[in-house]
Amino acid sequence: MSYAIIGFGNIGKALAKAFARKGIKVSVATTRAPETFAADAAAIGPTIIPKKLAEAVTADIIFLAVRFESHPEVAKAHATWQGKTIVDVTNAYGVAPEKLGGQPSSKFVAQAFSGARLVKGFNHLIAATLDQDPAMHGGRRVVFLASDDDAAAAEIGALAENLGFSPIKLGGLSEGGLLIQARGNSWGHLIFKDLVKFDR
Ligand SMILES: NC(=O)c1ccc[n+]([C@@H]2O[C@H](COP(=O)([O-])OP(=O)(O)OC[C@H]3O[C@@H](n4cnc5c(N)ncnc54)[C@H](OP(=O)(O)O)[C@@H]3O)[C@@H](O)[C@H]2O)c1
Repeated sequence: MSYAIIGFGNIGKALAKAFARKGIKVSVATTRAPETFAADAAAIGPTIIPKKLAEAVTADIIFLAVRFESHPEVAKAHATWQGKTIVDVTNAYGVAPEKLGGQPSSKFVAQAFSGARLVKGFNHLIAATLDQDPAMHGGRRVVFLASDDDAAAAEIGALAENLGFSPIKLGGLSEGGLLIQARGNSWGHLIFKDLVKFDR
């Protein structure tokens, strides 16, 4: 299984740190040439591989860590998204519901990445919190996942566990997924809730 993070800003770097902590290889890409952020990637760890966008999007599992407005541009970077899993980390705060056709923001994103399986997640915490080691207070930091594809949610749940988080599945994008959705001037009720799960 290969992994990529598209966007290497606050959230992209926080996700990269999680991969680096566990020694898992992940490609990172922006609109820029990889040389321009190679030093930042190296500072996080040797498993963080800077790539051109066109190369990074060949990965099996792709974290979308760009601003919501940039997702259509990323979607143009690959001819087909069939067989891939997109993890939508974007928050559409400030985007009018009418612009989304009244849909949950992740359903709108899923349309751009036609053929891919989409999981919304890793988006409910501020970057400075997501950045930290998820092993804390004798438990593991919670990440919420929502998807209309149960197998994709399970796949990303397993990855979240490998990264040291405790995933909680919320169900479909239009159901539990609304708890972690931002849209217009509203935040879902679980956004910003930094929770820790204890194994017993
Ligand atoms: N910041 C937070 O605390 C937080 C928390 C939860 C969720 N989020 C969500 O996470 C997403 C990223 O937020 P952020 O704060 O990390 O933003 P950011 O710091 O502005 O970083 C955005 C990154 O996306 C890249 N990018 C922009 N357009 C691109 C394109 N077409 N193709 C490839 N890369 C592109 C930018 O690279 P260039 O240098 O090439 O422009 C930059 O590395 C947003 O949707 C935000 O709502 C943020």
